Formats: sequence, C-alpha cells, structure tokens
Amino acid sequence: MSTDRPVLQVLVASTRPGRVGEPVARWIARRAGEHAAFDVEVVDLAEIDLPMFAEPRHPRLGQYAHEHTRAFSATISRADGFVLVFPEYNHSYNAALKNALDHLHREWAGKPVGLVSYGGVAAGARAAVALQPVLLALRMRPVAAAPIPFVSRYVEGEGDERRFAPDAEVEKGIDAVLDALSAELGRG
Ligand SMILES: Cc1cc2nc3c(=O)[nH]c(=O)nc-3n(C[C@H](O)[C@H](O)[C@H](O)COP(=O)(O)O)c2cc1C
Repeated sequence: MSTDRPVLQVLVASTRPGRVGEPVARWIARRAGEHAAFDVEVVDLAEIDLPMFAEPRHPRLGQYAHEHTRAFSATISRADGFVLVFPEYNHSYNAALKNALDHLHREWAGKPVGLVSYGGVAAGARAAVALQPVLLALRMRPVAAAPIPFVSRYVEGEGDERRFAPDAEVEKGIDAVLDALSAELGRG
C-alpha cells in the first residue's frame, strides 16, 4: 500500500552467508517502521545478487544494457532516503556495496543517507570514512552515522533465529540516525 510518507530503504550491504548485517538491518527496519515518519523497505544486496559491474555506458546516462541494472534502478528510484548497513572488511567497506553504488547514478543523487557501520574495535569507522568520498561523488547527502563496535556481541541465537539485541548506547546511535533522516525528509 502506498502512502504519502517518504520511502526509507535499509540496505543490507553484506552478502556473506551468516552475515551479521542481516539481523542488524532487520532490527533497524523495524525501528524505522515504529518511527512512523517513513515507509520502510529492506534492500538486501544478497537477494539482488548483482554481477560485477558490466554496463557499457556511464550510469549517469541511465541507458542500462542489463535487465538486472534496470531492475535495481527501479528499486533504488523508489527511495527518498537510505540507511546503509555495512561491515568493515580490510579497513574499508565491502566490495558488494561499491559494486551496487557504481551500478547507478541519478537514482542515488540528492538523497539523504545514514551510515550504520560495524566491525570489531574500530566499529567500522574506517569503512565509513572510506565510503564518504564515494557518496559525495554520487551527490548523496550523508546526514548521520552510527558505528557499532564489536557487533557480534549484540547478535543472539543461531541461524534464522539470530537477532540483534543492541545496548542502550548503540540503540541511541541508531535512533539519532533515524531522527536525522526524518528531519531531512521533512517529518522531523
Ligand atoms: C574479509 C573480511 C575482512 C574483515 N576485515 C575487518 C576489518 O578490517 N576490521 C574489522 O573491524 N573487522 C573486520 N572483519 C570482521 C567483520 O567486521 C565481521 O566479521 C563482521 O561480522 C562482518 O560483517 P558481516 O557478518 O555482515 O559480513 C572482516 C571480516 C571479513 C570477512
């Protein structure tokens, strides 16, 4: 059902089997839904399963040769803003996220984005720093960041039953990201 609320997409960047990013993103999507400021969608890069970028033309032209790019374009075009939920891999963000960002251009432009990075002691901060110039090149508007340190400490259960159980501090950081997005999207 479509409403007049802005569409917030929570993007699961990790595509790894057993990824922590999936329960984290599900928790954020539920929280964002409770916020009442957005219509929330989860965009899971593992489900979207983009191949390595192989568009002959620059994405800024929007002339996509491949059906998977056209489908991804239609998905991202629906969004008014994003929460990117991404891991730190080797002191940067993961390759699947870069590949997804590179596939499109206008679809990202001008839209506010909240960054939820995670990892070990550095909480994905180096990944978030590495991502900044890429977001700016795409003319996205980073509005807030919530780095999650030692993320696996906040994931309980096994397999499909895994759930993210943040402490008050982490919860506060994620709420601040949602508040900033809500303000940017005119509902704050
Ligand atoms: C290839 C790879 C590289 C990693 N490099 C880092 C790193 O540089 N810094 C860090 O804090 N954690 C690093 N980690 C640990 C990840 O942050 C941790 O495994 C996290 O759960 C990965 O997110 P995911 O489970 O959603 O894929 C790395 C993990 C992998 C698989």
